[in-house]
Parts: sequence; C-alpha cells; structure tokens
Amino acid sequence: MLLCASSVAWGEVGSRSCRTCHQSQFDAQSATAHAASLSPPASHRLASSFTSLLGFKSDWAFGAGSQAVTFVSRLANGEYLEHGRSYFASLKRLAPTPGHAGLPGPGVRYPVIAGDAAILRCFQCHSTGAVRVEPGLRITPAEPGVRCESCHGPGDSHAAAPAKSNIVNPARYSSHELNQLCGSCHRKPAAAGSATDWSDPWNTRHQPLYLAESRCFLQSNGKLSCRTCHDPHSGAVEPGCASCHAAVKHRTSTGTRSCVSCHMPTVVPQPGLRFANHWIGVYTPGKTLRPR
Ligand code: HEC
Ligand code: HEC
Ligand code: HEC
Ligand code: HEC
Ligand code: HEC
Ligand code: HEC
Ligand code: HEC
Repeated sequence: MLLCASSVAWGEVGSRSCRTCHQSQFDAQSATAHAASLSPPASHRLASSFTSLLGFKSDWAFGAGSQAVTFVSRLANGEYLEHGRSYFASLKRLAPTPGHAGLPGPGVRYPVIAGDAAILRCFQCHSTGAVRVEPGLRITPAEPGVRCESCHGPGDSHAAAPAKSNIVNPARYSSHELNQLCGSCHRKPAAAGSATDWSDPWNTRHQPLYLAESRCFLQSNGKLSCRTCHDPHSGAVEPGCASCHAAVKHRTSTGTRSCVSCHMPTVVPQPGLRFANHWIGVYTPGKTLRPR
C-alpha cells in the first residue's frame, strides 16, 4: 500500500503487538530472512562483516544477507540512490549490485515520484504495512522487514478483540491462493499468453513462475503450494517429495544424492547468488534452466 502522510492509517499494529499473545510464532519469525529483509545498515545482522568494506554512507540495507545486501541512500535533492556495489555473504566482499553489472556511475538514482514507482516498490516488498512519503519526499515504511501483517493483513481489530473472524489465516487458503500470496512479492506465475524467457537465469528467482510449470504442480489436483515445502514462520525447508512419490524406481543410480540436487538444480545467475530451480523435473546434467 502506498500512502501519503495525510492519509488515514490502515490498521497495522506491528509484530510486537502480535508477540503478546503469539510468542512462538513471533520468536520463530523474528529469526528469518523475511524479518531482516530491510533495516538501517548499522542494525543489520551482518553489519560487523560489511561496515569496514563500505566506502560510502547509506540509510537502508535491503536483503537479510542470506544472499546479498544492497545499500540505498536518500540524497539531498530527495532522490534515492541504489548503490552500485552490494555485499555478498558467500563471497564475503562487495561486488556489483544484482542487475547493475556494466552500468556506469556509482549506482542508480530514483526519483520518489515516478511512473513506475520503482523505489517505493522496493520498500513495499521489503516491509510491512503502509509505505509513506513524508514531507521532503522521505520514504518511511510502517515496519521494516516482512512481518506478521504482510501475510495476515492489518491486525488492529484482532489485537484489540481477538477472534478468528477479524484476522486472515492462510491455513484456509487453497494452494492457488497461497501461491498468489507468496507470489505477491516472489512474483506470480505468468499470465496466460505472456512469454517467460526460460533461458534467462535471473528468472529463476521468481519461484512461483517456475513451480507452476512442474508436472508435480500441474498433475496433483491443486495440492502443491509453497507451504508444502516452506514453513512460513521458521523459514525451514522440508521438500517432502516422499509424500507424493513414495517409492520411485530409478533406472539410473541416484547414490546418496538428495532428490532436490537432481530435480531442482541450483542456478547461479551471478557469482554469490544462487536459486533452486522450482520447475521440478528431470534435468540433463549441466543444463539447469529447463528440464529435458
Ligand atoms: C490479545 C491477544 C492477541 C493479540 C494481541 C493477537 N492475537 Fe491472534 N489470536 C488470539 C486468540 C485468543 C486467537 C484465537 C481466536 C479464536 O480461536 O477464536 C488468535 C488467533 C489468531 C490467528 C488464527 C485465526 C484463525 O482463523 O484460526 C491468527 C492467524 C492470528 N491470531 C494472528 C495474529 C496476528 C498477526 C496478530 C498481530 C497483528 C495477533 N494475532 C495479535 C489472540 C491475540
Ligand atoms: C511482503 C512480501 C513477501 C511475501 C508476502 C512473502 N515473501 Fe518471501 N521473501 C520476501 C523478501 C523481500 C525476501 C528476501 C529476504 C532477504 O532479504 O534475503 C524473501 C525471502 C524468502 C525466502 C528465502 C529465505 C532465506 O532464508 O533466504 C523464502 C524461502 C521465502 N521468502 C518464502 C516465502 C513464502 C513461502 C511465502 C508465502 C507463505 C512468502 N515468502 C511470502 C518477501 C515476501
Ligand atoms: C515485487 C517485490 C520486490 C520488489 C519490488 C523488490 N524486491 Fe528485493 N526481493 C524480493 C524478494 C521476493 C526477494 C527474495 C528473492 C529470492 O531469494 O528468491 C528479494 C531479494 C532482495 C535482495 C537479496 C538478494 C537476492 O537477490 O536474493 C536484495 C539485496 C533486494 N531484494 C533489494 C531490492 C531493491 C534495492 C529493490 C528496489 C530496487 C527491490 N529489492 C525490489 C522482492 C522484491
Ligand atoms: C510469509 C507469510 C507469513 C508471515 C510473515 C507470518 N505468517 Fe502466520 N501464518 C502464515 C500461514 C501460511 C499460516 C497457516 C498455517 C501454516 O501454514 O503454518 C499462518 C498461521 C498463523 C497462526 C495460526 C496458528 C498456526 O500457526 O497455524 C498464527 C497465530 C500466526 N500465523 C501468527 C503469526 C505471527 C504472530 C506472525 C509474525 C510474528 C506471523 N504469523 C507471520 C503465514 C505467515
Ligand atoms: C503434491 C504432490 C507432489 C509433491 C510434493 C512432489 N511431486 Fe513430483 N510429481 C507429482 C505428480 C502428480 C507428478 C506427475 C505424475 C508422475 O510423474 O508421477 C510428478 C512428477 C514428478 C517428476 C517427473 C517430472 C517430469 O516432467 O517428467 C519428477 C522428477 C518429480 N515429480 C520429482 C519430485 C521431487 C524431487 C519432489 C520434491 C522436491 C516432488 N516431485 C514433489 C506430485 C508431487
Ligand atoms: C517441492 C518443494 C518446494 C516447493 C513446493 C516450493 N519450494 Fe521454494 N525451495 C525449495 C527448496 C528445496 C529450496 C532450496 C533450499 C536450500 O537451498 O536450502 C527452496 C528455496 C526457495 C527460496 C530461496 C531462493 C532459491 O530459489 O533458492 C525461495 C525464495 C523460495 N524457495 C520460495 C518459494 C515459493 C514462493 C514457493 C511457492 C511458489 C516455493 N518456494 C515452493 C523447495 C520448494
Ligand atoms: C542422481 C540424480 C537423481 C536423484 C538423486 C534423484 N533422481 Fe529422480 N530421476 C533422475 C533421473 C535421471 C530420472 C529420469 C528417469 C530415470 O533415469 O530413472 C528421474 C526420474 C524421477 C521421477 C519420474 C519417474 C517417472 O519416470 O515417472 C520421479 C517422480 C523422481 N525421479 C523422483 C525422485 C525423488 C522423490 C528423489 C529422492 C528420493 C529422486 N528422484 C532422486 C535423477 C535423480
């Protein structure tokens, strides 16, 4: 939701309010990459690893650092600068910001008011609740990071008078609805008729798009969702292939390798970034973008 400072509040109360009554979900969720996906650089969990490497000041750190951290500054003229160098946790050094390789200059400047609302959209997907534009074109997220109300909706009435009727529980969603919820940030499957470039490794970061191509998804009568393998609160991954493929007879020897290593191969669009290909299928070794 994009709001101007003068608009009415939308009814988010923040995760601390949920904590009072849902301590276990709060504790688990607070340790996830979701919760840490936006913060001031000084309070970032990897601050001690990257502070000494940075030759510039910034106001926001995007990315929890399970892969990369990108730095964004508010400039004197009210524009925002996405710095051209990001910290990559697996490389333990700065390298070109994803998408910036080959661009000249120190980064990409974004006016706050723009047709594509690009910089506002960064904050939207990496924070919870209303993103406000304060006087001086200062962007202020209601709560940094992906927290409770990103998935459960505004919780003010529920926190004041808890009932099932005044809070969203995605446990009652169909697989399709759940994939849409996660896809609102992770990108939804392509609309019918629009083409995806399956040879572009960057597209594998849009997991909903790829999962939707799998026979596992297409032929399981709507049983497969992001939730089948991902715990939304702890972030734990449990692929659960056996729940549908009890006894697979392979012609080839699979040795001690995991199902995922062959059927959801790792794609590396740029050193330091890796994505599991969510188009579950049979791959020719070395060809990780599309099943054979
Ligand atoms: C004052 C205590 C309290 C606070 C604060 C609170 N909840 Fe609840 N919540 C409850 C109780 C009690 C229930 C069970 C309601 C019932 O079964 O009728 C519940 C149920 C839920 C459910 C399950 C609903 C269902 O349909 O099964 C969700 C999801 C939930 N809360 C999320 C949240 C979120 C998110 C927040 C913060 C915005 C929050 N709660 C704040 C007490 C609270
Ligand atoms: C409000 C936007 C938003 C929604 C909704 C959302 N995500 Fe995310 N998700 C993110 C962002 C941003 C990150 C990047 C975290 C980081 O900085 O590394 C992320 C990261 C992840 C990761 C990687 C975590 C890691 O440890 O590296 C998984 C897995 C994930 N999300 C699954 C889900 C699932 C499953 C759902 C639906 C139940 C979901 N997400 C809904 C925004 C969202
Ligand atoms: C449509 C929602 C959306 C928008 C807009 C968005 N992000 Fe993200 N961002 C995500 C999700 C989801 C992830 C997790 C990707 C994954 O690990 O699969 C992510 C991950 C990241 C990461 C961690 C590295 C990585 O690639 O996993 C950084 C850094 C980041 N985003 C910065 C930004 C910046 C800066 C902007 C604006 C220029 C931006 N994002 C815009 C949803 C979004
Ligand atoms: C990425 C999406 C996402 C986020 C963020 C999230 N939840 Fe949930 N929540 C779910 C889903 C999906 C369910 C349905 C049950 C399940 O899949 O485990 C759920 C269920 C619940 C329930 C019902 C009881 C249960 O566990 O089944 C409560 C209570 C709850 N969440 C509280 C919270 C609180 C508090 C936070 C923030 C600390 C939070 N959730 C953050 C997606 C999310
Ligand atoms: C919700 C059920 C479900 C889950 C979970 C599931 N699959 Fe499937 N999968 C299916 C169905 C249904 C098919 C199509 C019929 C068949 O080949 O058995 C399929 C097909 C496949 C195929 C053949 C694909 C092709 O294009 O020929 C492979 C390989 C596969 N699954 C591997 C996996 C792996 C590995 C996992 C875990 C990461 C997994 N599946 C999880 C239901 C599922
Ligand atoms: C059949 C199991 C399965 C399903 C269904 C599934 N995932 Fe994953 N996901 C995985 C595995 C396995 C990994 C790799 C975990 C690792 O590397 O530790 C992963 C990794 C991720 C990551 C981290 C970045 C990456 O690509 O490696 C994100 C984000 C993510 N999944 C989002 C989603 C979303 C959103 C959905 C629903 C559209 C979804 N996943 C459905 C098994 C699944
Ligand atoms: C070493 C790589 C490798 C591993 C590990 C592996 N598979 Fe496979 N899988 C293949 C190949 C290659 C095929 C193509 C048919 C064949 O060779 O048997 C296949 C075929 C399949 C099929 C389709 C069978 C059919 O023809 O309908 C399913 C389902 C499947 N695997 C599931 C799994 C599951 C579940 C696991 C983990 C328990 C797993 N695979 C582990 C390589 C692997």
